[in-house]
Amino acid sequence: MLAATPPMGWNSWNQVHCYELDENVVKRAADALVSTGMRDAGYEYVVVDDCWQAHTRDADGNLQPHPSRFPGGIAALADYVHERGLKFGLYSSPGTDTCAMHYDEYPGTLLGSLGHEQQDADLFASWGVDFLKYDWCLADINAGLEPVPAFTHMRDSIAATGRPIVYSISEYGRYEPWKWGPGIGNMWRTTDDLFAEWNSVAGVIDQQLALIRGPHTSRPGAWNDPDMLQVGNGNLTDDENRTHFSIWAMLAAPLFIGTDLDALSPIAREVLLNTAVIAVDQDRLGKQATVLAERDGTVVLDKELTGGDHAVALYNSTGEATTISAALPGSDHYELHDLWTGARTEGSGEISALVGPHCTEMFRVTPR
Ligand code: DGJ
Repeated sequence: MLAATPPMGWNSWNQVHCYELDENVVKRAADALVSTGMRDAGYEYVVVDDCWQAHTRDADGNLQPHPSRFPGGIAALADYVHERGLKFGLYSSPGTDTCAMHYDEYPGTLLGSLGHEQQDADLFASWGVDFLKYDWCLADINAGLEPVPAFTHMRDSIAATGRPIVYSISEYGRYEPWKWGPGIGNMWRTTDDLFAEWNSVAGVIDQQLALIRGPHTSRPGAWNDPDMLQVGNGNLTDDENRTHFSIWAMLAAPLFIGTDLDALSPIAREVLLNTAVIAVDQDRLGKQATVLAERDGTVVLDKELTGGDHAVALYNSTGEATTISAALPGSDHYELHDLWTGARTEGSGEISALVGPHCTEMFRVTPR
């Protein structure tokens, strides 16, 4: 099965956005995934987001890479990534243009896949693409498209190539993709863009909590995607970075790094390489957490894991340290593994911890 666990990797967007994207940035990220141990921790896909394209299609109607920023071409770049034991991802849009049409450099040229769906899918497959992010932008307003047929069209075009390509639907949760995404894509964005500031992280967490209070449609092969990681970016504090990563793992979210791996801060390294938290995200049962308890800006999340273990997160969204407690379902006596300090203790009854402002304590609970 493709995307049997939430896809992990690096994506260019949160790091360099549009004009700073070039093939060297991508090569450096691929090299760093290997040298930092991140590839071996599970970060597998190297995804080139928007702005890799030249201003126009070629005489045959094929998309072409931007000549000065991708002089070696996309196939060679995909080879470079593959040679390092990684997989390669690329970006397109269902409408007439990608989101970069909003920037001056791309004056309304036909760079979206509209009318070229099969041609583009075939080209991507021939280049060795293993992951496609298909980004809605304004395809409804600018091209009159409906999301379900538009995303289905590219799903079928990918399938016709015969190449296994993870298909990432990006429409920011506008059309409730958790209702129709399974069966079309391997993951679908559930929110607008995440920014590297606490209010954005906390806002997305609130939206996801609302989502997981309803029926869960996320499952192996088909994942809710609360957007790519901002760990290591902006002015997030160490605890906010830990909270961001902890909650994404509890949500079984795809984990796409978007920070400069050559300038990794100690906290970004600690967080992104926390293999015990990654194991919760990647657990093969593929369950999202449920909300166990909630009070005064604190939330307890419970995620069922394979083998009878649970992951429990105590999240404090407030600006004051506070004690959070929760009774665990069906577990009188247990071993508690604190996934951020590494401490292992035995316990019974309630789990309780003093949790700092904007902080999350996360445990793996093994019944004894
Ligand atoms: C909007 C998406 O939400 C972002 O992740 C990124 O892909 C940009 N579009 C690219 O233009």
